[in-house]
Amino acid sequence: MHRRDFLGRGLLGGLALAIPSRARADAGSYASFRAGLRRHPQLAALRGTEQEMLSGRARIHGKWPQALRGSFFRNGPARFERAGERLEHWFDGDGMVHAWRMADGQVQHQARMVRTHKYLAEAEAGQLLYPGFGTWLARRPFANNDTLNSANTNAVPHAGRLYALWEGGSATEIDPHSLATRGIKTWREDLAALPFSAHPKIDAAGRLWNFGALPGSDKLVLWRIEADGSLGKVAVLPVADVAMLHDFAITERYLVFLLPPFSLHPAEQTSFLDQHHWQPERPIRILVVDKADFTLKHSLEMPAAMVFHLGNAFEDGQHIRLDACLYRDARVLDEMRAHMRGEISATPSKARTVLLDLDLARGTVSEQRLLEDGEFPRVADHDIGRRHRRLYLLGESGRNPVGMGSVLSVDLDSGRRDEYVFGPDWLVEEHVPVARPDGRGLWLLGPAFDLARQQTVLNVFDAARISAGPLAQARLPYAAPLGFHGNFLKA
Ligand SMILES: [Fe+2]
Repeated sequence: MHRRDFLGRGLLGGLALAIPSRARADAGSYASFRAGLRRHPQLAALRGTEQEMLSGRARIHGKWPQALRGSFFRNGPARFERAGERLEHWFDGDGMVHAWRMADGQVQHQARMVRTHKYLAEAEAGQLLYPGFGTWLARRPFANNDTLNSANTNAVPHAGRLYALWEGGSATEIDPHSLATRGIKTWREDLAALPFSAHPKIDAAGRLWNFGALPGSDKLVLWRIEADGSLGKVAVLPVADVAMLHDFAITERYLVFLLPPFSLHPAEQTSFLDQHHWQPERPIRILVVDKADFTLKHSLEMPAAMVFHLGNAFEDGQHIRLDACLYRDARVLDEMRAHMRGEISATPSKARTVLLDLDLARGTVSEQRLLEDGEFPRVADHDIGRRHRRLYLLGESGRNPVGMGSVLSVDLDSGRRDEYVFGPDWLVEEHVPVARPDGRGLWLLGPAFDLARQQTVLNVFDAARISAGPLAQARLPYAAPLGFHGNFLKA
């Protein structure tokens, strides 16, 4: 297939409009963030770093499990400022990949900025040059999505390689040992710069499934990467009015997408976020796509909600059961932008966690409430696409104005919840289930930021006894920038 068949007209849509050379720049949250920091010291978690690399040995509190050996890779936006200007949205910072290395009961931390085109060009220029998701800025024209790629959302090991992922463009390959940037991953020449989302799913056979949203187009790109890392299949699915789409789920036979109701109105000198208009009277569209041939099999609807993350999905006869974290509206996107300029909402948005029942025969959707408040859902790797009993998440989104305050699991059968609440001076990041090598259960692994001491701590819990508190904590002598998502690779 030729490149033009993929791209078609308007594929890159609002994301990659060529910028007029005299366009204004507007990255104006630098001074207001500093003023806000004096009122809300918790915002220090969003200060970011100007360092290219971090490394240090953690001090262990408790007994770190000897059998927990490997690398816990994470990624998140870490650099937000240059030359007295600050990016306007948390999603816009340059990616920093972290590796927490653990062996023999000891933990080392290492982190390195992803040297993307954007990062290198801005470092050389000594100023911000390019727009992001929520920042309007245009000092240089750009050729395609990868000119803007900040590689800042997830770190995914697959088939002996490590990828830093960002939802708008290509994967960026990282050396898993040194964390040096190897460069943009192009699976095939005619697929260059096509989006490869930050939320791929790896099935039990080791195949990696992913999508790429092309906002402003009527297309979704669908990807299958084989267990050996080679390109298996890629296709473009026609979907009307594609806008922001962050995550998806897989089952044995299907890919499942929830498209929140935005309409996209491309406009010059306006951030990509501001080109998105929330449409509360329109439904979420649910697309069920056949994994075998990437064709649309079912199309369903449910009432409007904003969604970033899905937990897991599985088939149950003619039903698909799917968990998701749903916000009432899209206000959360603006709240995150407000944090970057030093403002905090008195009533931060919460996502309810629900179990959706998609009845494929009837075309109906019903919703069972699991939690009033949950985000960053994960399941054990061996449960992905299969029936899962436990979902692991973060809760207590009101505990700290800029993040979550607890780690919990919820049992889908009994509704029982097992939760550990950190103190008010903690900001908790995504926690990831890791299978114990002896097959006797799971650990839950994730960082938290100790605001009082301005240090980052890696927690390990027994996933079956979260409320008992961490089995051990590995405390760094410094603050590591917050990450969004990550994955454990056993040694
Ligand atoms: Fe995400």
